[in-house]
Amino acid sequence: MIELKQLTRVFGERTAVDQLNLTVNSGEICALIGTSGCGKSTTLKMINRLIEPTSGTVLINGEDIRDQSPELLRRRIGYAIQGVGLFPHRSVYDNIATVPRLLNWSRQEIDARVRELLELLKMPFETFAHQYPHRLSGGEQQRIGVARALAARPELLLMDEPFGALDPLTRERLQGELKQIQRMLGITVILVTHDMEEAIRLADQVAVMDAGRLLQSGTPQALLRNPREGFVSQLVGGEDRALRLLALRRVDELVQPLDQLSFEAELPTVSSGMSLRDALARHLWYGQNCLRVVDDAGNTLGGISLDAILNAEDQRP
Ligand SMILES: Nc1ncnc2c1ncn2[C@@H]1O[C@H](COP(=O)(O)OP(=O)(O)OP(=O)(O)O)[C@@H](O)[C@H]1O
Ligand SMILES: [Mg+2]
Repeated sequence: MIELKQLTRVFGERTAVDQLNLTVNSGEICALIGTSGCGKSTTLKMINRLIEPTSGTVLINGEDIRDQSPELLRRRIGYAIQGVGLFPHRSVYDNIATVPRLLNWSRQEIDARVRELLELLKMPFETFAHQYPHRLSGGEQQRIGVARALAARPELLLMDEPFGALDPLTRERLQGELKQIQRMLGITVILVTHDMEEAIRLADQVAVMDAGRLLQSGTPQALLRNPREGFVSQLVGGEDRALRLLALRRVDELVQPLDQLSFEAELPTVSSGMSLRDALARHLWYGQNCLRVVDDAGNTLGGISLDAILNAEDQRP
């Protein structure tokens, strides 16, 4: 668990972070979101002591981070930033191996770890390990940045707009991969973004900041359903809110037996794991009131009606 308590940082006249209180549970992703200059990066850097707070504390599993040397602390924390910051004159392998070498891991251990991470990030070792950063695409560099941050098995990963400069498709793919890897490794992630879509897609908890202060934090659903008036409500979007909520829910929540539904013989299908937002798009595309729901093996589980989706938020559990 990471706890920020009354965390404050003043630069001269300017209070960049103002009495911030935030708790992030272990194994969860927290997205820090807000406009440029609201104090997101400063908050992140106070967690790994790249910046010291003016006042307030950061606790990791109950321990004050000031009780540890910054060097020791940073070994427990991976850090990946926008623009990546790979070492240009080191190969992919050497970039990823940076911290493990510092920690005197054996050659075999480092080798195995680099292979494992490249595999996780879907970059074959033989193709990529001995490339230099300038030969890689932006998305590939970004992945290596993430791999390097994960190399020494940190318990906490701090990411500052890691997918900022990427095209939408690559970004979406990397977000999916990050989430998979995060679940698999069970690490805690604090991710800075100014993209609400990204926050909603990835985070267990979204924390909205403005002018150094925390305005609201909660699950994506909670924020979408009950955003605070003003900035938060603007950020989560008036018209888009309904669609964003549907994107967080799955078809299997609303499956009904087919005999309860009036339907055409040859119904188009949707898969049970699809989001309600995508299922809605299919209903509209096919012009059907009901679609057949199938599992991964293609077995019919029932049907899903257009009405059920349209009423989903009114009748939620
Ligand atoms: N080293 C510094 N010296 C003086 N002022 C600083 C310093 N670092 C940050 N600031 C100021 O603190 C405020 C918060 O900066 P911060 O980098 O945390 O914002 P941010 O939310 O990460 O913004 P962005 O989305 O643009 O990255 C800004 O007004 C910035 O100018
Ligand atoms: Mg920043």
